[in-house]
Amino acid sequence: MTITVEAPAKVNLTLHVVGRRPDGYHLLDSLVAFAGIGDTVEVEPAPDLRLTVGGPTAYLLPADGDNIVLRAARALAGRLRREPAAAIRLTKRLPVAAGIGGGSADAAATLRALARLLDADLHEADWTTLALGLGADVPVCLRGRPARMSGIGERLAAVPPLPPAWLVLANPMVPLATPPVFKARTGPFSAAAPLDQPPVDAAALALALSARRNDLTDAARSLAPVIGEVLSALTTSPACLLARMSGSGATCFGLFATETDAAQAAAGLAREHPGWWSAAAPLLG
Ligand code: C5P
Repeated sequence: MTITVEAPAKVNLTLHVVGRRPDGYHLLDSLVAFAGIGDTVEVEPAPDLRLTVGGPTAYLLPADGDNIVLRAARALAGRLRREPAAAIRLTKRLPVAAGIGGGSADAAATLRALARLLDADLHEADWTTLALGLGADVPVCLRGRPARMSGIGERLAAVPPLPPAWLVLANPMVPLATPPVFKARTGPFSAAAPLDQPPVDAAALALALSARRNDLTDAARSLAPVIGEVLSALTTSPACLLARMSGSGATCFGLFATETDAAQAAAGLAREHPGWWSAAAPLLG
């Protein structure tokens, strides 16, 4: 019996930093969506906990064994007072430390897969607590649908439906850890700016996003200036409606109306920047 759960890339379409807690965590207001590309988690019953990792970006994972997938499995089993007895296979396709929640998505997919394998029945609040303990982006990844994320990541609310649209994700293959980016952020905090109307199409979504920001962009660029090149490569791609950074970077996304436009832009990026990771994927509704 193998249970397979996809771990789609998380994309912060907007990310406003609205405050900071006394413990240093930042209060956010973010429109989070998902792209139709990601990692895959498979779990099977086993006598003990084991993890095998494969896939095109598996080589980017630290080899110390302290994988967030294992932490997620141990945390769920601990909460259920059970042994974390499962063989987990992670197929990695997303870049690591990249602002698109690869680790968080893997952790959320592990929780979902093991919940089925172990027949776990927890209240929603318990799932959120468990997920938040693994990382601020894990609750939204566990929900797996577009959401307005606030607090440090634990408050999730429904958003107006998003229109059909395509994304090109581009990462310069410079890993960027999240804490230094938050530390490098300067200036006043922003106001929250949730999406109030459902955008009728990709162009209307781009217009709505153009009035909003990712407040971590300047901080991330100060640490990894190549992000500026990624943003301008996306912005100048034919048919790109808008380009922004996701999360704490360095991955940026371009928004496109059609699959053909996105595929052409991704092909152009791959030609001009062979060292970058890039992919076209639908915005998941
Ligand atoms: O929870 P996660 O491991 O994703 O966060 C990594 C780090 O990013 C935190 O230790 C904190 O420094 C920073 N962070 C933050 N505010 C958030 C999320 C993360 O300051 N809302």
